[in-house]
Amino acid sequence: MKKKFLSVLLAGAMLFTLAAGCAKKEDSKKIGVAMPTKDLQRWNQDGDNMKKKLEEAGFTVDLQYAANDIPTQQNQIENMINGGCKVLVIASIDGDSLGTVLATAKEKNIPVIAYDRLIMNTDAVAYYATFDNYKVGTIQGEYLRDQLNLEGTDGPYNMEIFTGDPGDNNARFFYNGAMDVLRPYIEAGKINVKSGQIEFDQVATANWATENAQSRMDAIISGNYADGTKLDAVLCSNDSTALGVANALEAGYTGDYPFITGQDCDIANVKNMIAGKQSMSVFKDTRTLADQVVEMVKAIMEGKEAPTNDKETYNNGVKVVPSYLCTPVFADANNYKTILIESGYYTEDKLA
Ligand code: BGC
Repeated sequence: MKKKFLSVLLAGAMLFTLAAGCAKKEDSKKIGVAMPTKDLQRWNQDGDNMKKKLEEAGFTVDLQYAANDIPTQQNQIENMINGGCKVLVIASIDGDSLGTVLATAKEKNIPVIAYDRLIMNTDAVAYYATFDNYKVGTIQGEYLRDQLNLEGTDGPYNMEIFTGDPGDNNARFFYNGAMDVLRPYIEAGKINVKSGQIEFDQVATANWATENAQSRMDAIISGNYADGTKLDAVLCSNDSTALGVANALEAGYTGDYPFITGQDCDIANVKNMIAGKQSMSVFKDTRTLADQVVEMVKAIMEGKEAPTNDKETYNNGVKVVPSYLCTPVFADANNYKTILIESGYYTEDKLA
């Protein structure tokens, strides 16, 4: 009896040591992934993709979403640092609010990769992986230029402008990319922004929230277009703002539908494109971005330099962060089947 008890004890002890050994081994490959919110489709996809691909590459993953709340994200990152993560991959809510927590990461030699959104004013960021954000804006601006035939006609065409959250460094890249194309036509009088809201701060959308875009568009419609004045185009930096604009138009605008731009190819927006309620979007294949970030993580963990393709564009206020820029792709009702369904990004039933 005593002997049996002893051998059970021994087996237990062995199991414990084994488990502890495993935990230790896992910890040396633990990667923290901090995402801003589950509210927007794209970040769920980004998070899922990152987790799946990092795990396939043999890492363990601590994936957190912060409900667009800055202190929550700061806490989550702190926990990742204290929990033994070896590399941090962070899509920030507010690019300017992570300096303090990332100083701790730096002290502990934990490299940080800024995911899609640049983290500002800290030297703790080692790399940045994103899409060419300025190009996203260029694609949107050139689309409106060509659809309105701004080179061949005088207009004037009525246009309104919606961009993103001022705390997201990307928002200014999208806005500038589009406005560098469109501003000359505003100045030439071919585009008329009836609301008078043109500058970045006037057209920003807090948290990129659909509701905020919708209520601003409601006010613009009732102040400028309720009398039947035609609205020809709405420049929207992304799909969540485009959705708010489309909702407002549906509720309060009776004229011909304007051209509306977007970005992300969110399911609700692809449905709107198919239904003629949004004209285009910009497809950013989050699988490609995840692949690039996994390559960065692997290189860092092997003590090598990570692959980058841009060493000049993204200055975060303290340093130029070596970046990998993926390519954004124009999408509309004519090509969505090829780029979204045939590529396996969505199944057709999701868009039905
Ligand atoms: C991303 C966009 C996204 C927006 C709102 C930006 O930083 O680059 O793809 O639509 O955030 O979440």
